[in-house]
Amino acid sequence: MAKLSVNVDHIATLRQARRGIEPDPVYAAVMAELAGCDGIIVHLREDRRHIQFRDLELLRKILKTRLNLEMAATPGMIKIALSIIPDLATFVPEKRQELTTEGGLDVIAHQRKIAYAIKTLHRKAIPVSLFVNPDVHQVETAKACGADFVEIHTGIYSEARTENAIAREWKRIAQAVDKAAHLGLRVNAGHGLNYQNIKPLLELKGIEEFSIGHSIIARAVLTGMDQAVRDMISIIKSGAE
Ligand code: PXP
Repeated sequence: MAKLSVNVDHIATLRQARRGIEPDPVYAAVMAELAGCDGIIVHLREDRRHIQFRDLELLRKILKTRLNLEMAATPGMIKIALSIIPDLATFVPEKRQELTTEGGLDVIAHQRKIAYAIKTLHRKAIPVSLFVNPDVHQVETAKACGADFVEIHTGIYSEARTENAIAREWKRIAQAVDKAAHLGLRVNAGHGLNYQNIKPLLELKGIEEFSIGHSIIARAVLTGMDQAVRDMISIIKSGAE
């Protein structure tokens, strides 16, 4: 059965709307763990629009599952990762204007910089994942850079509306997952996944873990965190039967 890691950034987005102290992403992470998820993800962005350093520090101290830190491969963030030692660092592109992470990393264009950053984190035994579009060339270059994982970007798949477009994007993801597995990379997947569109992806047995934030937090607003996480786990479980 594939694992589920829950991204709690949007709990922090709500808190930052008032620059206050609630809701606390640390509480949300604990509730997600109690509901049975396999890990927690946060993205500490350069502009600190949602997750703050304080959240990261607390999560590192209290989580009982795994902490996946999404980060830009910048010197400042590398320094933070080396001090926090997450269980996984996922390099993502970061642009100030974007609403959320909009595309995969261009590993081909930034190969040397990414390879160097991976090497630096490996010195402290931090495994590294690269968030890439479902493109076999990006996957091959991720391997060449020394990455341990790729996280396949499912955003375009999630936004596809016609049957043809969905099938085409599903196939691109399947090919990227196969390529990664063939190269010995471990595979995560995420972005834009919800309680419906995750189902066809459960056929892809090479996906080790799904990384899901917005849809779970959106449901949690109405049903509570515990129920929202359990509902997603039960869908993932049904794909394993
Ligand atoms: N994976 C990565 C690399 C991301 O940047 C995000 C968004 O923060 C997600 C997964 C989760 O996406 P969503 O919030 O759409 O589930």
